[in-house]
Amino acid sequence: MKTFISEKMSTIGLSGIRKVNEKALAMERAGKKVIHFEIGRPDFDTPDYIKKAAKESLDRGEVFYTSNLGDMGLREAIAWKLETQNHIPCKAENVLVSVGLSEAIFDALMTVLDPGDEILVPDPVWMNYVNVPRVLGAVPVSYTLKEENGWQMDLKEICGKITDRTKALVLVTPNNPTGSTLSRKTLEGLAKIAMEKDILVFADEVYERLIYDGAEHVSIASLPGMQERTFTFNGFSKAYSMTGWRLGYVAAPAEFIKEINKLHQNAVTCAPSFVQKAGITALCDEKNEVTEMVEEYKRRRDYAVKAINEIPGLSCPIPGGAFYIFINCKEVCARTEMTSQELAEYLLEHAGIALVAGTVFGDSGEGYLRMSFANSYENIVEGCRKLRECVEKLNPSWKA
Ligand SMILES: Cc1ncc(COP(=O)(O)O)c(C=O)c1O
Repeated sequence: MKTFISEKMSTIGLSGIRKVNEKALAMERAGKKVIHFEIGRPDFDTPDYIKKAAKESLDRGEVFYTSNLGDMGLREAIAWKLETQNHIPCKAENVLVSVGLSEAIFDALMTVLDPGDEILVPDPVWMNYVNVPRVLGAVPVSYTLKEENGWQMDLKEICGKITDRTKALVLVTPNNPTGSTLSRKTLEGLAKIAMEKDILVFADEVYERLIYDGAEHVSIASLPGMQERTFTFNGFSKAYSMTGWRLGYVAAPAEFIKEINKLHQNAVTCAPSFVQKAGITALCDEKNEVTEMVEEYKRRRDYAVKAINEIPGLSCPIPGGAFYIFINCKEVCARTEMTSQELAEYLLEHAGIALVAGTVFGDSGEGYLRMSFANSYENIVEGCRKLRECVEKLNPSWKA
């Protein structure tokens, strides 16, 4: 038989996070206990008021296609949220509702990128921002995030990497996998560059509500002159614990939304009708449901950060957002002559803790392990204890 798979499929692989998850699940099927720190999925149930809205919508018989762009009530609610909470000038015509944020990202990148075009992406990064450009024949050009800079972008490096083919830059704040947030100062510097060099900014703000210690989340589209060149990506998965509902959106100038919709129509037609109704309720009727989840994440984060920093050979800064700790394991890797991938595998096999090697998010992730603290407090306590025991066994001389 001839080869049927397109050449572009060879440019990407399967998700490294899912690979760890599958291995962990196989171990569980074989009767072993595994503590899951690998998946970026809130462990809370979706708040009741949102579930109730979906059920009521179904009972009202709202089971048909909506407008491709999304239910007008939801688009208006999203525009209201972006204007009042994110200070982004926005109307319903600036919003397209998608099947999970992942779909909006795919459509938006495809709308903008031609083969050979360049897009600046952080390294480390959630890998869709590398894989989607690759499959489109575009070139993801990485800019480095470094722990010693508080994971902020280096604006000089970015300027040096912009060429005539650069169409856009991706930023993710709060960040997956580092858990860091970009400061207003960094974003103001970046906005200046984007306007001077005439590039678009794709701002992924899906973790925006998961922010700790009173830190400020700044939407780059709210800065003067930036609305017209920013695509703001957001969704319901992380803030409202709705990963399985598949509801996201992109906000951008109306002329872009019109083009994105051409792809969206062909790919999915529209997001599910009753899920969109529940999305309106999620945004408009929220009381303290998200705040309570954030408080619990913070409790887990504080425990985990302290426990990890007490393990000889491991360290981590306090993440200001999302639910990830990017653990620096360079010392352990150096002494054991393991890569972070090998160390992650060792920890899964010997301690039953599933962590993701930093290299799954790009080359700059070498020497790091991503831990998701979207798991119960008890599991975090137990997982950190096992992590300590295993790392100590790897080299007993490190024992404090
Ligand atoms: C940075 C980032 N953007 C987007 C997404 C996708 O979100 P959704 O579940 O809405 O597709 C994820 C999921 O992990 C993510 O980490």
